[in-house]
Amino acid sequence: MRVGVVGLRMGLYLATWCRRLGMDVVVGCDRDPDRRAEAAAQLPGITLAEDWRELLHEDLDGVVLANNFDEHAPPAIAFLDHGVHVLSESAACASVDEAQALIAAEQRSAATYSFAENYVFHPHVQLVRDAVDAGEIGRITLVEADYLHGMSPGDVTALIRDPGHWRGRIAPTAYCTHTVSPVLALTGELPTEVTAFPVDSADPRAAVVLLVRLTGGGLAVTRHGFLQGEPDSHWSWVSVRGTEGLAESVRAAGDRAWSVRVRHEAWAAAEDVAREQERTPAPLLLDGATVEPKAVGTVRVLEGFRATVEYGEPPLIPVRPAVAASLVGILGAQSLRNNSHPTPIPDLTSTP
Ligand SMILES: NC(=O)c1ccc[n+]([C@@H]2O[C@H](COP(=O)([O-])OP(=O)(O)OC[C@H]3O[C@@H](n4cnc5c(N)ncnc54)[C@H](O)[C@@H]3O)[C@@H](O)[C@H]2O)c1
Repeated sequence: MRVGVVGLRMGLYLATWCRRLGMDVVVGCDRDPDRRAEAAAQLPGITLAEDWRELLHEDLDGVVLANNFDEHAPPAIAFLDHGVHVLSESAACASVDEAQALIAAEQRSAATYSFAENYVFHPHVQLVRDAVDAGEIGRITLVEADYLHGMSPGDVTALIRDPGHWRGRIAPTAYCTHTVSPVLALTGELPTEVTAFPVDSADPRAAVVLLVRLTGGGLAVTRHGFLQGEPDSHWSWVSVRGTEGLAESVRAAGDRAWSVRVRHEAWAAAEDVAREQERTPAPLLLDGATVEPKAVGTVRVLEGFRATVEYGEPPLIPVRPAVAASLVGILGAQSLRNNSHPTPIPDLTSTP
C-alpha cells in the first residue's frame, strides 16, 4: 500500500507508525525545509515535496492529511477526486460549505474517506464502549467528555496565542473533535444542536464547555482547552451515564487513568446488588512488544485505514460523523459569538 503524508510534524509521527505497520510511505510533503530534513533523516528513501498538489501524481493508494487543522478539506476533496483514499487528521472541514463539498466529493469518488480520530480508540474509551455495547448500563442518557491540558500559562501562550499559527487562529470551540468523536462513536448518534460557553470570561480562548443535543434525545457535555488537574490518559476523560448505570474513566494519575469504573445499580439487577468494578485495559502487543497506551488509538486508526484501502473494509470513522464532529466546533463558535445562543446543526445526511 503506497502512502503519501501531507504535513510532517504530527504527520511524521503517523508516517513512522505507518512504516512500522507495514505500509509503504513513499512520499511526504511540507512547506518547511526543516520538517522535510527531519523526515529525510527519519524515513530513509522517502521522496519529499513542498506542495501537496505534487502528491496527486504519485500513484498513491492512500494519503494521510496532517497539515494545518483548518485546511484539510481542500486536499481531501482533491485526493478523493483523484481516486486516492484519504485519512484526515482531527478536523474534517472548517465551514458548512466545506462540509457539504467534502460529503459530495466522497460520494462521487471510488476512494474512501476516513477520519484519523485516535481518541475514539484510546484504551479507556474502548473499555467504556465495551460496557455500553454489552448493555451493562442501559440506554445512554448523558455523556461527558474532556480534552483538557493542564499546562503552565507560558506554555499555553506559546501554543495558542500566535495568530500566525493555526492553533492561534482557530475558534476556541474548533478542536472539539477529540471529545465529540468519542461521544458520537459511543452513542451511534449525530449532533442536532450546540450551545457553547467560555469557562472563564476573563480568558475566553483558554477553555470552553459545549452542550450538545444528540439525535437520540440524550445530551453530551464536552470540555476542552486548558484547565488544570487532568488525569494522565493523554488529556482525555470520558463518562457515560445510562438508564441503569455508569461507565467512566478514572480521574487518576499514572496508569490507572486508563482504567474504567463500571457501576450497575442494585435496583436494576436481578439479585438486587449493585455491581461495581474497576476495569484495566488489556495491553496491545505488536511484534511481541507492548504499545504504550497513548499510541494504541493511532495504531488502531492506521490499521483500520489499511483494512479499508487493502481489503475494502468500511472506514472506522467515515465522512458523515467526521463532518458532524467538526460542525459542532464550527457552529459552537457561532454560538459563542451570539452570547451562548443554542445553535442548530444542519442534517447533512441528505446532501445530494
Ligand atoms: N490526533 C492527535 O492526537 C493529534 C496530535 C497532534 C496533531 N494532530 C493534528 O494534526 C494536524 C497537524 O498538527 P501539528 O501539531 O502537526 O501542526 P503543526 O503546525 O506543528 O505542523 C503542521 C505542518 O504542516 C505543514 N503544512 C501546513 N500546510 C501545508 C501545506 N499546504 N503544504 C505543505 N505543508 C504544510 C507545516 O509547515 C507544518 O510543518 C492538525 O490537524 C492537528 O489537529 C492530531
